[in-house]
Amino acid sequence: MNITFNEFGKPQAGALAVGVLEGGALTPAAKAIDKQGKGFLKRAIEANARFTGGTAQILELFAPPGTKATRLLAVGLGKPAALDAAGTERVGAAIAARLLTSGEKQVTLAIDRPKEAKITAEDLAARLGLGARLRSYRFDLYRTKQKKDEKPSLQKIFVQTDDVAAARRAFRPLDALADGITFTRDLVSEPANILYPAEFARRVKALEKLGLEVEILGEEEMRALKMGALIGVGEGSQHESQLVVMRWQGAKDQDAQPIAFVGKGVCFDTGGISLKPGAGMWDMKWDMAGAGAVAGLMHVLAARKAAVNAVGVLGLVENMPDGKAQRPGDVVTSMSGQTIEVLNTDAEGRLVLADAVYYTADRFKPRFMVDLATLTGAILIALGHEYAGLFADNEELAERLLAAGTAEGEKLWRMPLTDGYDKQINSPIADVKNISGGRDAGSSIGAHFIQRFTNKVPWAHLDIAGMAWSGKARPSGPEGATGFGVRLLNRLVEDHYEER
Ligand code: BES
Ligand code: MN
Ligand code: ZN
Repeated sequence: MNITFNEFGKPQAGALAVGVLEGGALTPAAKAIDKQGKGFLKRAIEANARFTGGTAQILELFAPPGTKATRLLAVGLGKPAALDAAGTERVGAAIAARLLTSGEKQVTLAIDRPKEAKITAEDLAARLGLGARLRSYRFDLYRTKQKKDEKPSLQKIFVQTDDVAAARRAFRPLDALADGITFTRDLVSEPANILYPAEFARRVKALEKLGLEVEILGEEEMRALKMGALIGVGEGSQHESQLVVMRWQGAKDQDAQPIAFVGKGVCFDTGGISLKPGAGMWDMKWDMAGAGAVAGLMHVLAARKAAVNAVGVLGLVENMPDGKAQRPGDVVTSMSGQTIEVLNTDAEGRLVLADAVYYTADRFKPRFMVDLATLTGAILIALGHEYAGLFADNEELAERLLAAGTAEGEKLWRMPLTDGYDKQINSPIADVKNISGGRDAGSSIGAHFIQRFTNKVPWAHLDIAGMAWSGKARPSGPEGATGFGVRLLNRLVEDHYEER
């Protein structure tokens, strides 16, 4: 979607959108258009009792009199004093969703800022653009027989604003954010026959064009580092496991201690020898969404030249059953030196993270680490598709993550860590086992396993199993990959870890 900013005035050819306040009052730009058409808009609103001007409601009028527009969308802005960044994004999203496959090629948004709004005029323009971009996302790569009327028609959005330069400036970091989220969604949407570990790594390597440094470690290098936990998971796969290290050096002091993000990248999770049931197994193509989010976040940080040193580490594997696959009961030695009894080969994400997290702590000695993982089905039972689970051993980091999640609409719910859970993963024959043996507190058990490998670096773990994929379209995007985590962590960095 192409977003451009123009001054208020003559709209471009195509569709036109104007703002209406809760209760039906027209904004000045809407009034001007209504006047040309001798009050047609006011009459239409009065005739449609269901259109109240609520946030992101749309009333669509064809060939509106007195204008050259093909159609006019009267778009609700809600109560003016409540209009904020999130509401504005929803407005942009609703317009994009309505017109995406409508046949219209372009739309002009003549939406002026209500005086009492909680958002500046330039942010309003920029957030309309962001909302429209995120909602217009599509993954149509493998649809060769799409009918013409199923294909997106909308290509250009012209956002009118008083100060074009200011709006462009406000949009730049949001455009970078949308690029990063799009990158994540593409990775997460790809099927596992296309996106196996080496291909994932190649796509991340290509981000060097943004100024990121990207290193790729293969199995030989990981063996030299003694990453027996990660390597064990990939043993049954034809595809070589990879560890990807992304670095963004944006701080003035190149030696400033970095912050670090670690992602579970299981490109496909069959469960291994502890095989999953067939029904729904296809969902496990997105078991790399944690790594996808970390890659997308690093994309954003680089594209908007964030003033921070940040590291992103991706543990990329495929978990397959095979003659060479690891068995339930096997004992592996992790890079930390701790031995792990692998009682269930389907609890593989924590094995990948054990080595990825320890490697990150050991090599970079970061200020903190946040790992993201589609780790447990149990988090879906607890929190469904509304919250990701947050586990943290550092109060400040936990508070900051919770606040960032609320601000960005990617909500987190704090879950407990406690000694009583930790004890349950002591193994009779090794240092630790990868499951407790029961179903109780499954997400906390998984988190505790990871914590054993953090080497005392302040750490948080986000279990995003319920959030990485959406079964239905939402204001922030269509059905499918959500890109969850990118916005949240970008906000965390922006609010607390950049030099000013
Ligand atoms: N990738 C799954 C978790 C998952 C389940 C993600 C559903 C998204 C949707 C993970 O590797 C897994 O299999 N976890 C097991 C752990 C168990 C064996 C302790 C689970 O949750 O059943
Ligand atoms: Mn699994
Ligand atoms: Zn998994």
